[in-house]
Order: sequence, then structure tokens, then C-alpha cells
Amino acid sequence: MVSCATLRVVVAGASGETGQSIMKGLLAEPAQFNVVALARRKSAGKAVYQEMVRAGATVEAADYCDVEALAARLAGADVVISCLLPLQRVESERLIDAAHRAGVGRFVPSFFSMVMPPRGVMEVRDLREDLLDRCKRVYLPYTVIDVGLWYQVGLPSPYAPPPPLADTIIGDGETPTAMIDKDDIGPYVARIIADSRTLNRSVFAYGEVTTQNTIWAEVEAATGKEVPRDSLSAADLEARIAELRSSVAVDPTSVGPTLDLAMSQYRYSRCVRGDNTPDRAQYLGYLDGKMLYPDLNCKSLRDFIREVVDGKRDHRIYVGRDVVADATQHRN
Ligand SMILES: NC(=O)c1ccc[n+]([C@@H]2O[C@H](COP(=O)([O-])OP(=O)(O)OC[C@H]3O[C@@H](n4cnc5c(N)ncnc54)[C@H](OP(=O)(O)O)[C@@H]3O)[C@@H](O)[C@H]2O)c1
Repeated sequence: MVSCATLRVVVAGASGETGQSIMKGLLAEPAQFNVVALARRKSAGKAVYQEMVRAGATVEAADYCDVEALAARLAGADVVISCLLPLQRVESERLIDAAHRAGVGRFVPSFFSMVMPPRGVMEVRDLREDLLDRCKRVYLPYTVIDVGLWYQVGLPSPYAPPPPLADTIIGDGETPTAMIDKDDIGPYVARIIADSRTLNRSVFAYGEVTTQNTIWAEVEAATGKEVPRDSLSAADLEARIAELRSSVAVDPTSVGPTLDLAMSQYRYSRCVRGDNTPDRAQYLGYLDGKMLYPDLNCKSLRDFIREVVDGKRDHRIYVGRDVVADATQHRN
């Protein structure tokens, strides 16, 4: 089931939030993985890449405009992992084409998201599925990895980065949803990509299942303070999504409403439809990470909240970055 030879793994978007977790997970197993971080030319000098080199990685500059050159970079890779954003559609497509051309053994497209049905729930998921279809059209071996909602974005303010994604309780706050400490993605990925059982399959690699009310209660228990309970009904969220869809239809290049629509649709899927659970994942054909790797211990939501509240860990993400500006740049 588990490969013993050293695997050459190329990680695209290695400097991002997911990318860094995965790099750390892979670099922790030097006997198992020979790790290459693929950086855009303009990013290759970033301090984060120098740290990766010190930790044992090789950093290679890549040109996402040139499939031929990209394929040369991927030649000999057993596994290629994409940690690009779905917004980077053209670059993601070229990476798939290059991986196919290079004959890589397994491609991991950039999902690392919440479980939901493949089509028709939200546009961002449709984009991801389009990328997976592209792999399948050329029989590129693949593994999809979804992880649930990161703890890092799922807590109420001030314990999550702006813009707040989880400050409002949707409906009665009792819909179960799977979450994970972003730092646990890397160790999961290290297991999944070395495991023949996960080839051409989807894996749900989550930490634990919880509810919005439980998150609020845990934060209140850790801080000793009441957390405001702003709430929004399912009907109001539906109306908001319809409104945002109209704005985006009028101007599809408007980044603010597009991101707002995506975040509202994630919330609807997670808190109203209840898509992001192990049961739904099983129905949708995912393998369950807990069953595949029962010995892999993930950080509990309670411990994460206590460490954050006690100032024992840095829970901040996208530090020094303007996510909306990044998205605007990607569209140009
Ligand atoms: N489950 C959750 O709660 C959750 C939360 C957030 C994100 N996600 C998902 O995780 C995945 C990765 O997102 P992330 O937030 O980790 O990404 P991120 O931090 O924005 O990093 C993306 C990386 O892609 C590279 N990049 C940026 N623009 C590019 C371009 N035009 N062409 C090629 N490379 C480019 C950058 O690396 P260089 O500049 O170094 O080349 C960057 O570090 C996505 O699928 C995202 O939706 C999930």
C-alpha cells in the first residue's frame, strides 16, 4: 500500500498557506521525499523559499506561460501538488498539461477545501471540477484532497483574519461541519501521496466535526467572555447570494463581489446544506482520512482555540498580504 522508494515531489504554490503546510509535512520525512518547490520567477527570491532550502528543499523557478518549459521542470516527478488558487485557472490548466506531458505519476489538483457535490453548488467548486476533468481527459493519475474548513478561518473575530468569514451564525448554528488545523494538512498529504489506495480517488482529510455553536462555546470557555451572536437566516443568506450573483453577472471582473459571492456560497454549503461532513463525503465517493490513517493525530479544535487565546501560537494567515489585491492582480 505504502511506497518505500524516495518520491520526487514537486509543489507548485509552495509559498502559500496550504503550500507551506505541505512543504513542512514533506520535509519532515527526508527519507521518503525529495522535495522541489516550484516558484514563479518573480517570487523565487522570497525569504520563505530560502527557509525551505535550509530545511532541505530544492527551489526551482517556473514559467507558467510555457507548458514545454514547465514540463521540463516536472520531468521525473513522482508527484506534483498544486497549491495555486482556483482563480489561477490558466496557470492551473498549464500545470496539468505539463504534468501530463512530463508523465508524472500522480497529480494533486488544488482542492484542499470543503466537501460538496461536484457541480452546481458554487462556481469555485465547478472551477476545481473543470480542472479535475482536464486530468481525467488525458488519464493523468490524480488524487483529490479536501480538508474541511481551516480552524484559522473558522473562528469568530478577533481570532480569524479579516475579512471575517465566520462571525455570523447561520441558521440555528447546529449544522455539523468538518474542520482542520491548517498545520495538519501537510502530515496528511505526506501519508496520502505515498499510499497506493488513494490513487485516482478523493480523500477527505479532516481534523474533527463540529458546529458553529460549539465553536462559540469553546471560545467563550477559553476567554471567559461572551462572544456576540450575530445571526443570519438561511433565507437571508439565499437572498444575499442571489443579489451577489446579479452583481457578478453585470460585471464578472469585479473582484469584491466575486469573492463575497464565493464566501457566501461556502457558508451556504457548510451551514445550510450541510455538505461538508464525513457522511456526505462517503456518499460522494471519498475515502475517509480517519479510516486510512487512524494513528495520525490532528489538533483538536479545543486545543487550537486555547493555544490561540493563551497567545501560545500564531494563528495569523496571509500576513503582509492583501488577498483582494492579490486576486485583482491574478485576473489581469
Ligand atoms: N479549506 C479552507 O478553509 C481553505 C482556506 C483557504 C484556502 N483554501 C484552498 O487552499 C488552496 C490554496 O490556497 P492558499 O490560500 O493556500 O493559497 P495562497 O496562500 O494564496 O498561495 C498561492 C500560491 O500560488 C502562487 N501563485 C500566486 N499567483 C500565481 C499565479 N498567477 N501563477 C502561479 N502561481 C501563483 C504563489 O506562489 P509564488 O508567488 O511563490 O509562486 C502563492 O504562494 C486553494 O484551493 C484554496 O481555495 C482552503
